[in-house]
Parts: sequence; C-alpha cells; structure tokens
Amino acid sequence: MHLQFPLTNSGIGIMATDVESADFFLKSNIEKLLDEYHFIVIKKLDWTTDRLHAFLEQFGELVKNEKRKDETMLTLDGSQHAKEVLRGTGRMPLHRDGLLMNVDVKYVGIYCLHVNELKNGRTYISDSANAFNEYPEEIKKTLQQNGLEAMPFDTAYYLKNENKYYHFDGVISKNNKTLPNGGLHFKKEERASYHLRFSNVDEEKSYEYFETLEKILESPTYTYYHTWETGDLILFDNYYVMHGRESYSGERSLIQMQVKN
Ligand SMILES: [Fe+2]
Repeated sequence: MHLQFPLTNSGIGIMATDVESADFFLKSNIEKLLDEYHFIVIKKLDWTTDRLHAFLEQFGELVKNEKRKDETMLTLDGSQHAKEVLRGTGRMPLHRDGLLMNVDVKYVGIYCLHVNELKNGRTYISDSANAFNEYPEEIKKTLQQNGLEAMPFDTAYYLKNENKYYHFDGVISKNNKTLPNGGLHFKKEERASYHLRFSNVDEEKSYEYFETLEKILESPTYTYYHTWETGDLILFDNYYVMHGRESYSGERSLIQMQVKN
C-alpha cells in the first residue's frame, strides 16, 4: 500500500493506493484517518455498489430518500442534464451536503463507477475549517449573525423545494470549534442549482462577500482537485470540508452515499 499525505498545503487529506489489507477498511482505522485528515482518497478499488453500501453502513445510518437508487444511492451521471444542475453536468460550487435535503450529514462517500473521455469534471475539496480563520472579520461576523439563505432551482431533486428562501445558520459548532456552514454562490451568468445569499444583506454585497470567500477557499493552500478514474473512492467529513465539482463533458458515472450524524 502506498500512502500520500497531506493533499492540501494546509495539511489535510490522505490518499491510499494499492490497498491490500482488509484492515485498512475497518471502521476504527477509517474513523481515525477522517479525524486526522478530514478526507480520504482510495485509488483502484474494484467494488460493487453492494460492497460500497456495506462499507459505508458501518459508520452510521445511511441517508435514504426516494431520489436515490435503492433508497441510498445517488447516481451522478449527467443524465438529468436537461433538467437540473446537480444530477446534470453543470458546476457545483463548494458546499456542505444536506442543507436543502434537511438532513444532518456526517460523512459522504463518492465512488467512481466509470469515466470515459471525460473533460473537466474534477471534484474539489476545500479545507473550509482552516480557511475560516482567513475570512475577513466583517464577513465572518455577518455569517455568524445573519446566516445564509438558499432558494432551490433543482426542485425535482431537493426536498426543500418550494419557491422561497430557506434560512440556515452561517456557522456550525463541532468539538468546540466554529466551522463555516453553507458554501459558495453560483456566478451571475451560470445555470444554478440554487441561489445562495447572506440573509439581510444587499444582493450585490452578498455576491461580493462570496467572491472574497471563493478566493480564500479555492486558493492552492486549501483546495485539492481530484481527477476521477474508475474505481476511485473519496470519503470526506461533511463538517470540516466543503466540496464542489467542475462542469464537464464526456462520460462520468459516480455513486454518492451519505452517512447521517
Ligand atoms: Fe454535494
């Protein structure tokens, strides 16, 4: 087995290649790695979705809803291209999972079933917990005091799917640490999965805040970009990191499952 770490300059992320020992996949080992590195990339697996399901289930109850295959598996293969961004091919800016699904997600696992002639479509992970220290005071304060709100557009997917803004806290607290919640915005000209803004802040100002946060969160210090290959698994802690994906063309078939808190 080959281990590479960290994967961001800020010191998080670990990648394992050629894992031969079954012990590596034990709950205790994976939890230890997630505690220390916040996300794990495992290369060259040859897993069925049943194997993936059994692996993830040991960490807690899996998120179930009718949008998922066999209730637990979200297929991200671009097939909903004409209808939505999330299950289509558009860019997803950095975010935490679960906010528009009304579920508290602890871990997320994404497994690559297949890629072919893929252009772009990298998944990226930002060390948002550490990047938060660099947020300008004014934005940090607004985030903490006002919170954020999102209006869903991919209403065929989200469970919070009414034509209105849903409010949520701007920060969360984990192990006595304050961590940023929510995520980043879609660009003005971009097809959006939802519209995100700071609560009680002028639209322009809100957009400006996100542009500032994007520079911090997506700087080379905090962000790891993953180019998918068939058989890759990414597992991340949904509190300490934010994730996003580039828009893409070509074939890209991923299965995502979530573990509840
Ligand atoms: Fe996500």
